[in-house]
Amino acid sequence: MPDFPLPPGSTIGVLGGGQLGRMLALAAARLGFDVAILDPEPDAPAARVAAHAIVAAYDDPEGLKALADVSDVITFEFENVPAAALDRLAELGAAVAPDARALGIAQDRLAEKTFLNGAGAPTVGFAAVDSVADLRAALANLGAPLLLKTRRGGYDGKGQIWVHGAGGATTAWKALGGQPCVAETPADFRREVAVVAARGRSGEIALYPLTESHHEAGILRRARAPASATPRVLAEAERIVATILAALDYVGVIGVEMFERDDGKLLVNEFAPRVHNTGHWTLDGCEVDQFEQHIRAIAGWPLGPTEALAQVEMTNLLGEEANAWRKLAQEPETRLWLYGKGEARPGRKMGHVNRLTPLPR
Ligand SMILES: Nc1ncnc2c1ncn2[C@@H]1O[C@H](COP(=O)(O)OP(=O)(O)O)[C@@H](O)[C@H]1O
Ligand SMILES: [Mg+2]
Repeated sequence: MPDFPLPPGSTIGVLGGGQLGRMLALAAARLGFDVAILDPEPDAPAARVAAHAIVAAYDDPEGLKALADVSDVITFEFENVPAAALDRLAELGAAVAPDARALGIAQDRLAEKTFLNGAGAPTVGFAAVDSVADLRAALANLGAPLLLKTRRGGYDGKGQIWVHGAGGATTAWKALGGQPCVAETPADFRREVAVVAARGRSGEIALYPLTESHHEAGILRRARAPASATPRVLAEAERIVATILAALDYVGVIGVEMFERDDGKLLVNEFAPRVHNTGHWTLDGCEVDQFEQHIRAIAGWPLGPTEALAQVEMTNLLGEEANAWRKLAQEPETRLWLYGKGEARPGRKMGHVNRLTPLPR
């Protein structure tokens, strides 16, 4: 283990070279760190702004060794890093944060919901589904409809299908490829909210203001922060996030997605053990944004302030929408972030904009 806090000039290793890695690298550079990116793609968005780029599969022993050799601490920006990669880094004596346990729980929706309930964070009702018979049993026990989700690998609403009754069980099971799943009761939410928070190496925590998130076709479209909420909801959100961070003995930034029901009850949907799309507004809305906060946390630095300096609406630029950069760059209230991705496939996150207005008094 290195001595924390890591001094400027140290190198931060990152597994994954997408936009989250890119914004982490930019934040790290601001604090005087170098960054090493490991990604299978030669042209990864983060690799192009980093001091070191290692092009290798996530489970390639040589690539992981090269990353460990050059890095003082290693983190990840991609949630589907194979667990074996973190095991290998641990064998090499690398300091990894967040740790393999947090990643392993977040990678498996069944383990995640089981963990959350065990830690005192409420979720929707759920059942493990390993066969059509399990799915029928879940429909009988929990009622219809149920949202069937693959336990692993889903993102941006992929790997999910509603099942409206026993008659649709076989089709739904097959549509998801007959792999281990979890079936969830409908969340019946009034709105979706998220909390991005950080825990430092000495256990201190810092929460950003509550964010209201709007999904379209399973993809985050827009996030608004700070979101107004009753003091009871704010306190409950804070309690839930603090509980999760403590139960994981977590180091770094986490994104916790929640459903707010009509009666104000909060249910945790899922958490991401990394910087989160619902926290992109902090880039322009806070003194210390979520990317710098994550670097601070894993480097053992003090956490920075998280208050909002403005009201922010973040909008993802999906696919061709990023082609409007000329127009967006002309809007004085709009801060434009582009990820340097080549191909504008439909639904692909190409960038985002933060639109700032003064905080209501
Ligand atoms: N149990 C549920 N009931 C109702 N809507 C849900 C439920 N689970 C997920 N959703 C909707 O689908 C979106 C994506 O689901 P989520 O579990 O967050 O998967 P992903 O990993 O793709 O983000 C959620 O943000 C929410 O809008
Ligand atoms: Mg989600």
